[in-house]
Amino acid sequence: MYKIATLNKISPVGLSRLTDEYTVIDNTDEANGILVRSQAMHDMEFGEDLLAIARAGAGVNNIPLDRCAQEGIVVFNTPGANANAVKELVLAGMVLAARNIPDALAWAKTLAGSEGVGKAVEKGKGQFAGTEIKGKTLGVIGLGAIGVLVANAAEDLGMDVIGYDPYLTVKAAHGLSNTATIVDDLKDLYPKCDYITIHVPAVADTKGMINKQAFDQMKDGVVFLNYSRDTLINDDDLEKALADGKVKNYVTDFTDDRVITFDNVIVLPHLGASSAEAEENCASMAVDQIMDYIENGNITNS
Ligand code: MLT
Repeated sequence: MYKIATLNKISPVGLSRLTDEYTVIDNTDEANGILVRSQAMHDMEFGEDLLAIARAGAGVNNIPLDRCAQEGIVVFNTPGANANAVKELVLAGMVLAARNIPDALAWAKTLAGSEGVGKAVEKGKGQFAGTEIKGKTLGVIGLGAIGVLVANAAEDLGMDVIGYDPYLTVKAAHGLSNTATIVDDLKDLYPKCDYITIHVPAVADTKGMINKQAFDQMKDGVVFLNYSRDTLINDDDLEKALADGKVKNYVTDFTDDRVITFDNVIVLPHLGASSAEAEENCASMAVDQIMDYIENGNITNS
């Protein structure tokens, strides 16, 4: 019997794929495989029988990759399995910013129980009037599974798309639409975009890549969306860009203490991948990967 430990809540739909040869345990010390979402594993000691860790999600920055490599532990992730959930929230984030929804929602709630709501609503319509995203330009940094879905969906909504990926110059490679423009330098993306969304991994090369130099090249009043990782952003430079209006809204999926107090930051508690469907997809893929590796030695994604 193989032992699988779970960290974080892993979808029961995924766990139900484990065959009779597997048992789910609490103790990671005895595990042959570990299923994890976002829990940081850097300080965790691994048991001698551990063969594989599967991250039910795309980012693997919560896993000590170097130590796993040294100890011969295979690490899997589930790229693409939650891409649709993130895409939908990116589209929502653009509309939230464009139509001033967070402020309008908060304001509308203050009307509860008050008299003359009709008049107040008329005032609100003027106060919170926004813009449409149709006809605007979206820059997509990172054209992996999520970036491509976002780019194609934005085009469907009438946006023009400019994409950049340091590892991809052929746009057909990941099913990107033929009408998106691909640039091979961010200096050709920043000045043209009304909205910019970033979908790159948190690795040494991308740490702090959105900094003063980047903000300086962007349009005044740009909306910047970050559903990837907060380490991609230089907080000092973001604070300045928010304070001086360079960035109209920073839409982020990370509750970063430094910037969330700004009125023009729209913050979500890491909800990008938190849909029932994405959780099931990620858990199912992660479980299949672990079983395939333990039983057949296959490494389908790592
Ligand atoms: C990811 O990297 O795909 C997300 O962080 C997944 C999650 O929220 O668990």
